[in-house]
Amino acid sequence: MAKQIQAIRGMNDILPEQTGRWQYFEAVIRDLLASYGYSEIRMPIVEQTDLFKRSIGEVTDIVEKEMYTFDDRNGDSLTLRPEGTASCVRAGNEHGLLYNQTRRMWYMGPMFRHERPQKGRYRQFHQVGVETFGLQGPDIDAELILMTARLWKKLGLSQFLTLELNSLASNAARAAYREALTAYLREHSAVLDEDSVRRLDSNPLRILDSKNPAMAEMLAQAPKLSEYWDEESRVHFAELCARLDAAGISYVHNERLVRGLDYYNRTVFEWVTESLGAQGTVCAGGRYDGLVEQLGGKATPAVGFAMGVERLVLMLEQLDQQSLPREVDVYILAATQDAEIPAQQLAEQIRDQVTGLRVMLHCGGGKFAKQMKKADQSGAELALILGTDEVQNEQVTIKYLRQEKAQETLTYAALTEVLGALVAK
Ligand code: HAM
Repeated sequence: MAKQIQAIRGMNDILPEQTGRWQYFEAVIRDLLASYGYSEIRMPIVEQTDLFKRSIGEVTDIVEKEMYTFDDRNGDSLTLRPEGTASCVRAGNEHGLLYNQTRRMWYMGPMFRHERPQKGRYRQFHQVGVETFGLQGPDIDAELILMTARLWKKLGLSQFLTLELNSLASNAARAAYREALTAYLREHSAVLDEDSVRRLDSNPLRILDSKNPAMAEMLAQAPKLSEYWDEESRVHFAELCARLDAAGISYVHNERLVRGLDYYNRTVFEWVTESLGAQGTVCAGGRYDGLVEQLGGKATPAVGFAMGVERLVLMLEQLDQQSLPREVDVYILAATQDAEIPAQQLAEQIRDQVTGLRVMLHCGGGKFAKQMKKADQSGAELALILGTDEVQNEQVTIKYLRQEKAQETLTYAALTEVLGALVAK
């Protein structure tokens, strides 16, 4: 037998048994985004490598170790996008969507990072990202957080998620803090692990993110970023908190939340859960007021977030949500061979007449009992059975698969009524 070719490690097939949950999630989020007036943007999956280097930052894990970068046939360096913000800003600048106007946009799709795969962490994963431009006040930051909180409520996930919040303040404030932090960390260099020593000069704030218990005590005593906040950032943060308080959204001010991408300033936030093991961040984002200009556009304030679809779908799976819509409403089968063509005709006719109804026709023949078993497995509410008698009398037998109700034989007209009622349910 020929050797089977396997999928690439960390790049998953999403199987028919799983796509129902994905579609449910996608439908809920599309509705939610529409209810806030956000429009969809679709960007390419491949971009010039420099785009990510210049935005995410040369000395971040993503750019240093995780990008899928290759030379194309012209010798240009291209990269499979590791995230969507950089592409969104690139597209916004290129098409004049950002300057002197406000924009609220979202995107959905695969991202690629060469990380070590484990539960909730993959090399191809999917994000829903939301980006807003031209708005600098805390009102829009609050709107984004309120929107995510509403999503958790709709999905039944609120009780499993905690909001962590911080402000990275202005670039100047962060630079001053960076100096103080580096000095402190040097004093304690004996406790630093290998990773942190490497980061000491390049990206010391990321050391705060370390989960290494041997450094916990030392990091707890480290200088705090909030001690270096500039006045405007302090007010911005306080106003954001006031808005969250007014909306009844609880949060934890996590002084050590710094994010792994370089473009952030002021507000940063993450929604985290304990129910997924090590990969507990399901949604993360913040303000990036400098990025549009950094990528060649005119200075434009911006704030956004992205959520990891796999992680949220895993949470939904764990909940085993019953709210999943059924995929087939009606299963049509032929009890006798002479009814096979009429059954196919009936299926087409129903699709013409009853919009929104999901109709599956039994294909492949087989014994009646086996066909009924398939009807049951399909999850359909009704089985419609055609046999010699039904075809002759222009009738259909209905079997109720999910109710204690005797089967009945109806005319086509009466059938259409029953099916219409099913769509409304
Ligand atoms: P990020 O924190 O790198 O931010 O990713 C956002 C979310 O994507 C994470 O919280 C996680 O749920 C999911 N995620 C990231 N990497 C993986 C992975 N390897 N496997 C599965 N899920 C993953 C960004 O990407 C920013 N662009 C967010 C943003 C938008 N900030 C402003 N606007």
